[in-house]
Amino acid sequence: MKILMVCLGNICRSPLAHGILEHLVALNGLNWEVDSAGTGNWHIGEQPDRRSIAVAKKYGIDLSTQTCRQFEPADFERFDRILVMDYHNLSDVKALAGKEEDHHKISLFLNDNIVPDPYHDDDLFDPVYQMIEKRCKELIKDLAGTS
Ligand code: 4NP
Repeated sequence: MKILMVCLGNICRSPLAHGILEHLVALNGLNWEVDSAGTGNWHIGEQPDRRSIAVAKKYGIDLSTQTCRQFEPADFERFDRILVMDYHNLSDVKALAGKEEDHHKISLFLNDNIVPDPYHDDDLFDPVYQMIEKRCKELIKDLAGTS
C-alpha cells in the first residue's frame, strides 16, 4: 500500500498524518510507503512547521526529517491512495487528475469531514494531532491485509 497525505502547505497537517501513519506502519510491521505533499508551493524544501514538529515530539514522533514538497501529477502513478485534508485540497488535486483511475484514488482523509487548517491558530495543533492519530489508527485497521 502506498499512501500520500496532502494538504495546502505540506507544513502543518499532512506532515503530521505522514509521520503518525509511518510510525504506526512500523509498529505494525507493515510494508507500506507513506509520503506527504502540498498543493501550494510556498514552503518547498522547508521542514514542517515548528508547531507540528513540537506536538508530534510531545507524543514521541519525529517530523524533523521531513521536507516539504509540492503535489505533482506523477503522484497519481506512484500512490494507491491520495488522502486530502479538506475540500479545497480535494478540488485542487482533482483538477490535476487525468484518468478515471486517478479520481478513484483521491478521498478526504476523514471520509466525510475536514481536518481544519491550524496555521493561524496555535491552539489547534493538539486537537488536529488527536484527530489525525485517531484516523491513522483506523486506516491501519481498515487497510491492513491489503498489499
Ligand atoms: P497546512 O497549513 O496546509 O496544514 O500545511 C498551511 C500552511 C501554510 C500555509 C497555508 C496552510 N500558507 O499559506 O503558507
